[in-house]
Amino acid sequence: DKADNTETKDVIVMGTNAEFPPFESVEGGEYVGFDIDISKKIAEKLGMELKVENMQFSSLVAALQTKKVDFVAAGMTYTEEKAKEVNFSDNYFTTTQVIIVKKDNDTIKSKEDLVGKKIGVQAGTTGEEESRKIEDATVESYDAGYAAVMNLTNGNIDAVVIDQKPAERFVANNDKIMILEEELTTESYAIAVNKDNEELLNTINEVFKELHENGEYDVLYNKYFGE
Ligand code: ARG
Repeated sequence: DKADNTETKDVIVMGTNAEFPPFESVEGGEYVGFDIDISKKIAEKLGMELKVENMQFSSLVAALQTKKVDFVAAGMTYTEEKAKEVNFSDNYFTTTQVIIVKKDNDTIKSKEDLVGKKIGVQAGTTGEEESRKIEDATVESYDAGYAAVMNLTNGNIDAVVIDQKPAERFVANNDKIMILEEELTTESYAIAVNKDNEELLNTINEVFKELHENGEYDVLYNKYFGE
């Protein structure tokens, strides 16, 4: 089976949902982003060719379990729930969930104001989980974060809860919306692998260690998040 023996194959398959800039998106027909570059480093370390499988974010855990993909690099937040289903690498990025609203809205100034409101999220994300905890809120799940943002702009929903970095991208491209100062949660991203694939997990952690030691992590960080 393809994911069982990473030594003898020349292609390693990374699963992602490329609707999450600057971690992963499609530009000019190419997969680009921080996670894509990290995945290339992992493939390089293994001496393999990287193949990217783009799918719904909510399908990624199952794709790992069925060995459709070897690892997932998708700005995926480490959660205890997911850690029961897949193994996570060391954390490689710490961030927050933020609230996006329309600039001309005058009812939502903080998290408390989301009570009873319509909140848009990307399906299967921690943003969805957090939003479902908000009292009396109606949570609308979309396939992609930008679809939630479009519905916010159109006035179909009152707010969007999403990860900070993609939120910054969406806001930079849309002068009708803004990010509230108050953040919802702090989370850490990690790469996920099948529970069976201890070896790949170790390699990924080694790659992270090397990237930190040789300064390449900082180079990548500045490429995508630097001012
Ligand atoms: N960090 C959030 C989570 O793990 C959202 C990640 C969405 N990633 C993506 N590539 N669409 O639930």
